[in-house]
Order: sequence, then structure tokens, then C-alpha cells
Amino acid sequence: MLSTQSASVVRATLPAVGASLGAITELFYRRMFEERPDLLRGLFNRANQANGAQSEALAGAVAAFATALVDHPDERPDAMLGRIANKHASLGVTSDQYRLVGRHLLGAVEELLGDAVTPAVAAAWDEVYWLMANALIAMEARLYAEAGVENGFVWHDMEIDERTEESPDTASFVLRRRDGLPTEPFLPGQYVSVQVELPDGARQIRQYSLSAAPGHKTWRITVKRERSTDDLVPEGEVSSWLHAHARPGRTLKVSLPFGDLVLPDGDGPLLLASAGIGITPMLSMLDHLATVSPDRPVTVIHADRSPAQHAHRLELAELVHRLRDASLHLWYEDRAAEWYESFGDAPGEPGTPTAHVREGRADVSGLLLPKDTTAFLCGPLPFMQAVRSDLLAHGLGPAAIHYEVFGPDLWLSK
Ligand SMILES: Cc1cc2nc3c(=O)[nH]c(=O)nc-3n(C[C@H](O)[C@H](O)[C@H](O)COP(=O)(O)OP(=O)(O)OC[C@H]3O[C@@H](n4cnc5c(N)ncnc54)[C@H](O)[C@@H]3O)c2cc1C
Ligand code: HEM
Repeated sequence: MLSTQSASVVRATLPAVGASLGAITELFYRRMFEERPDLLRGLFNRANQANGAQSEALAGAVAAFATALVDHPDERPDAMLGRIANKHASLGVTSDQYRLVGRHLLGAVEELLGDAVTPAVAAAWDEVYWLMANALIAMEARLYAEAGVENGFVWHDMEIDERTEESPDTASFVLRRRDGLPTEPFLPGQYVSVQVELPDGARQIRQYSLSAAPGHKTWRITVKRERSTDDLVPEGEVSSWLHAHARPGRTLKVSLPFGDLVLPDGDGPLLLASAGIGITPMLSMLDHLATVSPDRPVTVIHADRSPAQHAHRLELAELVHRLRDASLHLWYEDRAAEWYESFGDAPGEPGTPTAHVREGRADVSGLLLPKDTTAFLCGPLPFMQAVRSDLLAHGLGPAAIHYEVFGPDLWLSK
């Protein structure tokens, strides 16, 4: 909780600081990377720096935290902090790095707001920073302890055991530990970070959801290749590298699993809604459910460009088929009828997994969902926003709708 003197200063300066937060976080990163260029090449995602997404995510998180401190001093925005802490833990962020970030963040506030930053204002925002930093440091310490590692030691060598092309743009990689031990446990829905060394010597890290259930001796990730769409949008650095170079026998540096989008225990009804590569955490959840609770009611929704582009489409249908009380609803923008051809059978033939296949944009408004459904969403932001609106209109409470963004979470703080 903020001290009384800082609370009034933060309340008074929040509009001015809030209005400049975009510029503050941009300057913060610029100044920090001037001092420590190794962090941009070896820890931070340089695409998110180039397109401004990480600056926006940081500005949004700081604004949301400061607003919560003055508006609801007795509540801490733990959902937001937990999401950040899991991302940090998957990158091996260490507690001592918070001093460097704090120095540059507060330095950027002073540099941009000039004389308005009196000693009292600087002290109040320093307090906000350290309340947030210490909450994150404590959460990260707990995550590291639960994973059984020291502060930030999350990386280990994994060997690629198998590679499978799942669609023209996606490949899955089965990973096993180089020391022969079983892979660490994780919760369905969690992800790992993968680091690769690029041709210019930079080390870049990206997250990939585990796309099969825990409990196997191996992990599996599925990577969509981010292609260049025009001269202004380059191809994705890590996904293209993995598609070009990651073959069986090669070793990758992979983090332990982290992530806060996890399946709740119990037997309540579930909705799993994904689009495109957002299918990966859902596959892990379904694989897990099919093994441990095949009677749980589950509605599965997936949207994709066409059946041919839909990675893991047969596996998805088979997993849903293994659940006794589940339904599968598929929406394709194009060529929906080709889904049936995947099975070499006509719709409704014995042995053919049944699905409701439609052409067009996903529309969940017509589905019959129990009011106590817990929903999990993963896909592009517009898809998730549309599904969430439909679910709220359906009577689901906001707390029952969980989601994962495959990038800096720009939704959380909006
Ligand atoms: C929790 C989580 C789970 C994830 N799970 C998966 C998963 O299971 N499977 C999966 O495939 N992905 C997953 N992702 C996404 C993944 O981490 C990467 O973001 C993705 O592979 C793209 O990385 P990249 O290095 O190939 O692209 P990047 O190089 O990071 O580029 C990303 C995008 O930014 C654009 N870009 C780059 N530079 C610029 C610039 N200067 N100006 C404008 N645009 C630019 C690129 O064209 C590209 O479209 C997940 C992400 C998160 C956070
Ligand atoms: C109070 C301090 C901090 C705050 C508020 C903060 C906030 C955030 C936020 C909001 C994200 C995006 C999370 C997401 O949506 O996935 C993020 C990611 C990240 N943070 Fe922090 N952070 C802090 C400290 C640090 C420190 C000390 C480091 C280490 C130097 C660090 C390194 C990173 C990295 C590498 C990412 C991922 C960047 C990317 O993928 O583009 N952060 N942080």
C-alpha cells in the first residue's frame, strides 16, 4: 500500500504521468539499451521493441498498477502481476535487474517531465515502482522455488527428437532432455521460452505453448512460421530460424514451463476457443482431459483460414472424440468442405469424428453453453474480443473468461 503522503502526490500527478507514459517507456528502453545493448540482443524481443508493443505493454501495466493503488488501495492487481511474473520467470529475469530498470524508468520520468518532478513527486513514483517491483520479485521468487531452481536459472538443453510438418506454415517439435531424465512436470496451458542464436550473433527468445499434455517423457511445441507480408513487415526472426534449422538431433536452449493460463481442477463445464496457432494450449488441455477426466463437459471452438491451414486438425478431432461429453465447432474462412476430406469419409460415417463445420467468421452466439462454463480463449486479439463479448452477452461472468495473448499482453491493461 502507498504511504499517505505518496498517495496524494500520485493521485495529483497521475493524469500528467499517465498522459506521457508512452513517451516515458519509449525513452526508458532507449536509455537502458544505450547502457546495456546486450539486453536488447540477448534478453528482450527486438521485434516488440521495433514495433512498440513492449513499450505499450509496460506503459499499460504501470498505469493500471498506479491507478489501482490510488483507487483501490486495499486490493493488488494480482492477475496482471501474475501474468508478468510468469513471463519474466520464463525468461530468467533476476531480482537484481530491477534496480537497473527502476533507475532508467524513473530517470525517463524526470527527463521528460522536467521541473514538474519535484523531490516529492520523484519519491512518490519511486515508491510506486518499488511496490510493483517487489510484488513481482516475490512472485518470481515463488515461481523459481516451485520450479526448484535458483533465481533465474531456468534454462536447459533439450534435444529435438522429432519434427512434423503440421500444415504448410507450422511444424511441431518433440523435445527431450539431453541428460535422459524425464521432462519436468507442467500444467496444461503453460509455455516454455526457446532461445536461438541468429546469424548476426544476437540471442533472441520467444515463448511457445506446450502442445501436448504433461506426463509424457517429452515435451512438444508447435511453431507457426511468421512470413513477411510486404517490405515493411519482415519475416519473424525466431520462427523462421526454427523452421529453417531445427531438425532432429539439434539441441535448443529451452526454459522450464511457466504461464498462468491453466486448466482448473474439478468437473465444471469448459469452453476452449482458439483461432489459428492459438490451438496449441488447447491441445495440451484436451490431451490432459481425455486422460484424466474424459466425462467433463467441453465445448471446443476453433477458427482458421481453411482446413489445409489448420494445424493439428485431425488430432483435435480425435481428442474431442475421446471425450464423452464434448462437441467440436469449426469455422473456416474458406474451403470448409475440405475438412471432411481429411478423414476420407463422408460426414456422419461411423468412425468419423463429428464436428459442426461452417464457413465464415466464428460466431459463438448461437451455442448452448451452461451458465457455469469456464472459458479459455487463445488467438488474435480481435477473435478473442469478439468471443468474449458473445460470452458476456450469454451470461458468463468476466471472471470465468481466461485468455492467452501470443505477444505482449496489450489487452490486460486496456
Ligand atoms: C505465452 C505465449 C505463447 C506462445 N505460444 C506460441 C505457440 O504455441 N506457437 C507459435 O507459433 N507461437 C507462439 N507464441 C508466439 C511466439 O512467441 C513468437 O512471438 C512468434 O513465433 C513470432 O516470433 P518471431 O521471432 O518469428 O517473430 P518476430 O521477429 O518476433 O516478429 C513478430 C512480428 O513482428 C513483425 N515485425 C518485426 N519487426 C518489425 C518491425 N520493425 N516493424 C514492424 N513489424 C515488425 C514481424 O513481421 C512479425 O509479424 C507465443 C507467445 C506467447 C507470449
Ligand atoms: C516493476 C518492473 C517491471 C515491470 C512493471 C515490467 C513489466 C513488464 C510487462 C508488462 C511485460 C509484458 C508481459 C506480457 O504481457 O507478456 C514485461 C515483459 C518483459 N520484461 Fe518486464 N517489467 C519489469 C521489470 C523487468 C526487469 C527487471 C527485467 C529484466 C531486465 C524485465 C524484462 C522483461 C522482458 C525481457 C520481457 C519480455 C519482453 C518481450 O517479450 O518483448 N522486466 N515486463
